[in-house]
Amino acid sequence: MKKISPILLFLFGSFIIQAQESTIPSSVKNVEKKVDSVLSLMTLEEKVGQMVQYNGSWDLTGPASNVDSKYKEERLKNGLVGSMLNVLSVEATQEAQKLVMENSRLKIPLMFGYDVIHGYKTMFPVPLGETASWDLEAMEKSARIAALESAAHGVNWTFSPMIDISRDARWGRIMESSGEDTYLTSKVAVAKVKGYQGNDLSDPQSIAATAKHFAGYGFAEAGRDYNTVHVGENELHNTILPPFKAAAEAGVATVMNSFNDLDGTPATGHKILQRDILKGDWNWDGFIVSDWGSIPEMIYHGFARDKKHAGEIAVKAGSDMDMEGGAYESGLIELVEEGKVSEEIIDDAVRRILRVKFKLGLFEDPYRYSNPDLLSQVPFDEHREIARDIARKSIVLLKNEKDLLPVQNDVKSIAVIGPLANDKDTPIGNWRAQGETNSAVSLLEGIKNAVGDDVKVNYALGTTLGQGERSFLAPLEINTTDRSGFAEAIAAAKKADLVIMALGEDAFQSGEGRSQVNIGLAGLQQELLEEIYAVNKNIVLVLQNGRPLEISWSAENIPAIVEAWQLGTESGNAIADVLFGKYNPSGKLPVSFPRAVGQEPLYYNQKNTGRPYSPDSVTYSAYTDEEKTALYPFGYGLSYTTFEYGDLKLSSEEMTPEGSIQVTIPVTNTGKMAGKEVVQLYLRDLVASTTRPVKELKGFQLVTLAPGETGEISFKIDEEMLQFYNANKEWASEEGEFEVLIGGNSRDLKKGSFTLNE
Ligand code: BGC
Repeated sequence: MKKISPILLFLFGSFIIQAQESTIPSSVKNVEKKVDSVLSLMTLEEKVGQMVQYNGSWDLTGPASNVDSKYKEERLKNGLVGSMLNVLSVEATQEAQKLVMENSRLKIPLMFGYDVIHGYKTMFPVPLGETASWDLEAMEKSARIAALESAAHGVNWTFSPMIDISRDARWGRIMESSGEDTYLTSKVAVAKVKGYQGNDLSDPQSIAATAKHFAGYGFAEAGRDYNTVHVGENELHNTILPPFKAAAEAGVATVMNSFNDLDGTPATGHKILQRDILKGDWNWDGFIVSDWGSIPEMIYHGFARDKKHAGEIAVKAGSDMDMEGGAYESGLIELVEEGKVSEEIIDDAVRRILRVKFKLGLFEDPYRYSNPDLLSQVPFDEHREIARDIARKSIVLLKNEKDLLPVQNDVKSIAVIGPLANDKDTPIGNWRAQGETNSAVSLLEGIKNAVGDDVKVNYALGTTLGQGERSFLAPLEINTTDRSGFAEAIAAAKKADLVIMALGEDAFQSGEGRSQVNIGLAGLQQELLEEIYAVNKNIVLVLQNGRPLEISWSAENIPAIVEAWQLGTESGNAIADVLFGKYNPSGKLPVSFPRAVGQEPLYYNQKNTGRPYSPDSVTYSAYTDEEKTALYPFGYGLSYTTFEYGDLKLSSEEMTPEGSIQVTIPVTNTGKMAGKEVVQLYLRDLVASTTRPVKELKGFQLVTLAPGETGEISFKIDEEMLQFYNANKEWASEEGEFEVLIGGNSRDLKKGSFTLNE
């Protein structure tokens, strides 16, 4: 299976690494030497070839059939392609790699990239849902499993994690994100990079990760995908960039830039972002891949005259690889020959690409990921079990009155109603990689698996949600007219002790290009819910969705609400674990749920404004027709038990930059069941050289307590936690007073304060 280029063998044989006194580890020096020596053999055409990425849009295991694929195949044979995306399977990746290894002059192996966003075959919760677990170990684990399953199918590079701060529920891609908070997203970014890449990229079960989209994509104006982003430097540095810095420090192999323009400059052509900050200030040595066609899209932005000009702007700005844009392959050579782009810039890009390929071990064995033996060793059953556990950890209990949950023993008949009740596809979610259509355990199946024979389960569809073809690209048709299932559902509800309503969004209602101006229950779902409520008020509403929904009516009327996102392969079983008390819910919202869509973008860490409140006039920052607060705030989630927070104690009320403060708070489980609480620490800088948020998450701990047990929970506050990008454009803390806030969500917090003395 191993095929090594004779040229490279010769080359590597000649590497005699002298032991020199240096802080650079020898493994790194080795890679650098290898990269340089390969680079020195390359023609300009071959270098530019490495900067080209193709979509594998033809059957690679057969002869190329159309002009476009024949052309691409020729370029592969000539060693003029650096990587491919969407080539999926041991056979297909092997064939593509063979085209390069058996025909090209230098035999530089390809990388194979794919959007493995929340699992490859075993599907985990969509990222927004999984982040609700706040369980970093679990999130690292699911990435590790996704890496293993990808690697076993020939894929050695995922375009994940997506770490765009996302505060607008209208934006469809919020489902791919970790929500609205910078600190939480940074932690998830590191966990995901560790999960995908392991400790060593050359481990054949590790794959390269991608931090995307660099940067600002989540701030698309009005939540409309691909839209303009107006973000100032302060917001960029304090809110948007930190997760990327965390990923870079964790060694993420690649970064993807983004479609949006940022304050007048498309991110793909943004030199300050890519070359100055990421590669310069942060000293990151991986490579930047463009987003799909984002280089030529600069023509539409009105930023480039033509493809060649777009290529010039992008490469100078630091975009190293052109994903299906065709700009580099058509224009870069000429640009170098004309002296418009220096060959050093090309060399830098190629060096970065080769570096990742070396680290992945591809030069050692280009077929290491196209290995059928790996696939036979993948423990898919074990992965399902883990997927179930992570799924139930991701569920958020939003409301629980009338003791409806966990379902009581005297409930002998349950009506399971709604378009998502027996839907085996929606839980797989969008960006599903190789997660099969209709392969999830539906809620109905999960419930039937959980209840004994003495409980009658009656299912009624009620209404359909989406109709027609459902896929990544197909526009979704929402049913707004067909009420033919209402009567049966109402009849089922009438005779049931308990109704479980399964409502929310279709799998393809959120995701790329799926922005919406309405975020209520789509189609006839709200109407159905109200009709059922009219005949039976014992309703548990189970929501499955990829974005925060507007559910004010339900919050007021429905006694129990469970947020179950799109939880993946084991969805129904995981939800049933929570409904029937096998798992005590512990998830907390990673994003605010609004009272009305007009509040969007909505997030807890807002600025105070100059007019936060006025008791006797309307001229303050609020709405006249709705409260300004979230319906369910960031960090919120209930348990079947209750937690009481005592008063917090600070080890000192003064701190110096070299010192630290210990803050401790007693948390007691005051209910009857063991439970897990996410204890959250927020800080507020009261006066600073720029305005600062009213609070910012700075730490959290998952704490399990037995009934009656009190845990003394401690956090250490140090100077680094107080730093921000300030008026002098530097990360620093500033002396003065800080508030410390601790609690079980971002709204209900115990307070203390201390002073930082410089
Ligand atoms: C998306 C990226 C994705 C790429 C490749 C683009 O449309 O914005 O997130 O990785 O396609 O599929």
